[in-house]
Amino acid sequence: EKEDDGAKLLEGKKVIVTSGGTIERIDPVRYITNDSSGKMGFALAKAAQQMGATVHLIHGHTDSPPPAGIDAEAVQSAEDMYEAVLRHWKDSDLVIKAAAVADYRPAETASSKIKKKGDTMTLELVKTVDILEQLGKSKTNQFLIGFAAETHEVEAFAKDKLVRKNCDLIVANDVTAEGAGFRSDTNIVQVYDAGGIVEQMPVMSKDEVARRLLTIAARRMNGEA
Ligand code: CTP
Ligand code: CA
Repeated sequence: EKEDDGAKLLEGKKVIVTSGGTIERIDPVRYITNDSSGKMGFALAKAAQQMGATVHLIHGHTDSPPPAGIDAEAVQSAEDMYEAVLRHWKDSDLVIKAAAVADYRPAETASSKIKKKGDTMTLELVKTVDILEQLGKSKTNQFLIGFAAETHEVEAFAKDKLVRKNCDLIVANDVTAEGAGFRSDTNIVQVYDAGGIVEQMPVMSKDEVARRLLTIAARRMNGEA
C-alpha cells in the first residue's frame, strides 16, 4: 500500500518542468516577453524533487532565480525552449509545461539597434512553435501536463487545449481572479482530463498546488487512478 501523503510518489521518475516567460528578440536592446514570474514552475520543480523525481527545469525570463538545488537550464526564445525540451523529452516520464511561451515573435531579429524613424512603426510577428502541441503529437508513454491561463470562458478554452495538444491533464486558471495568476504566491486552479473536471482547488499557495497536482499525476502514472 502506498502512503497517502504522496511523499515519494515520483521515485525514479524523470520530470521536465518549463517555467517563466520566453524572450523574443526585436534587436540587441529590445524584446517581447510577458508577465510570467516563473513561480508556479519553480514550485512544481521543487515539489517533484521532494517527491523523489529527477527534475530538469527549463526556464525563460523569471522574476527571481530558480530555486537552489534544482538542475536548471536558462533559455530565451520559444525556439530555444523547444530545443531544450526535445533534448530531454524521449527520456522523460512526466513533462509539465508551466511556461508562458510567446505565441508570436518578430519575423526578423535586427542585428543592430533599430533607429527611430517615422511617426508610426509596424513590427511584423510570426507564430512561434507550439511546444506542447508538438510534444502531444510525438508522445509515446510520457505523461503530459499543460497549463491554460485564461481571463474568460476558462473551462471551455482549457478543455479545448487539452484535446488539441493531447495532454493527459490541463491546469486551468482564471488569471483575473483575486489570489491567482501571474506573480501571485497563491493560485486557484481547476484540473481537467479528457473526461472533465478532476479537481477544483481552493485558493492555496503555489507550493501546495504543486504537491496536489503532482500527487494526481503520480497516481495516474502509477496506474492507481
Ligand atoms: N504553449 C507552448 N508553446 C506555445 C504556446 C503555448 O508550449 N507556443 C503551452 C503553454 O506552456 C501551456 C499551454 O501551451 O502549457 C497553453 O498555453 P496558452 O497560452 O494558455 O494557450 P495557447 O494555445 O497559446 O492559446 P491562447 O494563448 O490563444 O489562449
Ligand atoms: Ca498563448
